[in-house]
Amino acid sequence: MTIKYESQKIAQNFYTFAVLLFLVQVVVGIIAALQFMWPDFFILNFNIIRSLHINAMVVWLLVGMMGATYYVVSEESDTELWSVPMANFQFWATVLTVTLVVLGYIWMGINPQANSTTLFSTGILNEGREYIEAPRWADILIVVSVLLFLFNNFMTVLKTKKWTGIQGTLLGGLTVLALMYLPGMFYTKNMVKDQFWWWWVVHLWVEGAWEIIAGALLAFMLMKTTGVKREVVEKWMYVEVGLVMFTGILGTGHHYYWIGTPSYWLWVGGIFSSLEPVPLLVMVWDAFRTTRETRVVTNKAGLYYTVAHAIFNFVGAGLWGVIHTLPQVNKWTHGTQITTAHGHLAFYGAYVLLVLAMIYITLPAIRGVKEFNASRAFQSFWWMTISMIFIVLTITGAGMVQTYMERLMGLDYVAVKANYNLWFWILRAIFGVGFLYGVVIFVIDYFKLGKEPAPIAAPAPEKA
Ligand code: HEM
Ligand code: HEM
Ligand SMILES: [Fe+2]
Repeated sequence: MTIKYESQKIAQNFYTFAVLLFLVQVVVGIIAALQFMWPDFFILNFNIIRSLHINAMVVWLLVGMMGATYYVVSEESDTELWSVPMANFQFWATVLTVTLVVLGYIWMGINPQANSTTLFSTGILNEGREYIEAPRWADILIVVSVLLFLFNNFMTVLKTKKWTGIQGTLLGGLTVLALMYLPGMFYTKNMVKDQFWWWWVVHLWVEGAWEIIAGALLAFMLMKTTGVKREVVEKWMYVEVGLVMFTGILGTGHHYYWIGTPSYWLWVGGIFSSLEPVPLLVMVWDAFRTTRETRVVTNKAGLYYTVAHAIFNFVGAGLWGVIHTLPQVNKWTHGTQITTAHGHLAFYGAYVLLVLAMIYITLPAIRGVKEFNASRAFQSFWWMTISMIFIVLTITGAGMVQTYMERLMGLDYVAVKANYNLWFWILRAIFGVGFLYGVVIFVIDYFKLGKEPAPIAAPAPEKA
């Protein structure tokens, strides 16, 4: 495996930053988990730790996707990137902005008053909207960075005018992603309206734009690892992406049940979001069908992560989403640990495994190795996946107890959290350490891949 174009190497910068932030995200997640048992544990409060955990996640996943996109667009357009210096500049500008934002959160944790200064109508360190807490000045820098990124990729395609379905869909998804950042960038004094627009960013990202990107990358990865014909993967990609949009856009309604929006959203959200698992199931079927028909697998680890991504996208987003998506159920489970359980498995399955799969598929080529020892890739996969399954089962249990005791029996929130759910928190922290162990193996593998002597007895390509 080697790269076709020198500029595809730029992907590696983005991957490295993503991998390091992944490690930070999970370490911080464990601190958050410990704070459920000892609220005073650590110098930074739970609210700061929690926003570091979820912001680090969003950022590293986006950065990983950016790296993957530079790689894919150059390959699909059959040419070098339009401007490598611009891509490098965009990378370092992103690193700088993210670092400043993180330092700002930490500073606010130590000195909460520091956020009382406003700049562009939000607090100077934190705008306070979950997942997109970055202050407005940082939003503006992020928009500039994303515009440079999109511009560079579109110019690359225009060089050869070779539009492929995969790269077109990928860039389409990324354009929607950029546009959907904007509704989170203005300020309204009305809480209902504020929540309304905020969900456009959060929901239309993960259940719209990001799933479109995942559909395009899934097609690319299946083509690369199994050698299946482009026409076949692209045909199914269009079906998947079409269904994602058909169900996901109006599916936004599942966040409009209780925020003060008109009651027709109960119907719209309930019906359309119940259909959201359908495209995710088609993706699983697509991955299995393609894999079954394959004769020669050259990158076993890459294919493994790809298929696992398809499966856990369906289980985490689809199944763990659909169980609480009807208003009749959501009325009881809204904002409980059931939501948190779904959030973890959905993000892990849909996007963590997606970015890791892209890394395992493109990194060997970037590092110029034919074969690599995949044993660490499998080890980290199982440590992370089994731990995540147990984290999710544990907090689903906590969520059921919480829903029953708090919402049905009317017990106090803190009483349930501090007494009845304590064992669940203990177990979550333990499984969290298991997850961290898997991440550490992955990070070591990332830095060592292709830099060690080739495996002694290179295995012959397997017959499937
Ligand atoms: C990869 C795709 C998905 C990701 C990453 C994801 C992630 C999340 C996250 C993080 C939340 C919590 C938001 C908050 O902090 O309040 C959430 C809420 C929710 N998700 Fe998803 N989700 C995905 C797909 C789905 C799908 C397909 C469904 C339905 C079939 C669904 C149903 C819901 C519902 C109903 C809520 C609201 C829970 C509540 O009322 O507290 N999600 N999702
Ligand atoms: C790749 C792995 C992980 C992903 C994708 C992830 C994702 C998320 C998301 C989306 C949320 C917000 C969900 C919500 O509150 O509805 C969250 C919160 C949280 N995460 Fe993680 N996380 C990961 C790993 C971990 C680990 C290993 C731990 C530690 C055991 C952890 C502990 C927590 C805690 C304690 C919260 C706050 C929950 C709450 O507010 O109720 N996470 N994480
Ligand atoms: Fe949603």
